Amino acid sequence: MNNLRILFVCLGNICRSPAAQAVMQKLCDDKNLNFEIDSAATSSHHVGELADARMIEHAKKRQIQITSVARQITYSDLEHFDYIIVMDDNNYKNVLTLDTKNKFIHKISKMTDYCTNKFKDYDHVPDPYYGGSKGFDLVLDILQDSCFNFLNHLKH
Ligand code: 4NP
Repeated sequence: MNNLRILFVCLGNICRSPAAQAVMQKLCDDKNLNFEIDSAATSSHHVGELADARMIEHAKKRQIQITSVARQITYSDLEHFDYIIVMDDNNYKNVLTLDTKNKFIHKISKMTDYCTNKFKDYDHVPDPYYGGSKGFDLVLDILQDSCFNFLNHLKH
């Protein structure tokens, strides 16, 4: 599991996947794991933008620094990364449309697949973009639970 490469994917790459990237980066830093961790969008809408200021602020309160700049996922990401972890079913479907040769489906999973029982009622990470403060905290709660659990399971 040395030098594992993990890509997080959501619709805009300004809320959920940048937060997932930052949560996982912090966990890996704490555990001295030298993984490559990145994030990307399925859409091109926000390419070049910093993460949503609300997401950055909510993460900062948990000592999690979000610094990513939005970019769109490409075919070479499918080749390069070992794990491509999406936030919801639409992301899953859209990533699969890039996989024209049907070679990478085994790499793609959903973030909530790694949740503990605490979040067993969630089958996706809810998009916080059009909602209030609680939505951003819920995203971070789910991400901290699922990223921690993901890393724990790698060891076994
Ligand atoms: P994300 O959130 O996919 O978690 O980055 C969204 C960001 C932007 C939009 C939707 C969701 N948007 O409609 O612009």
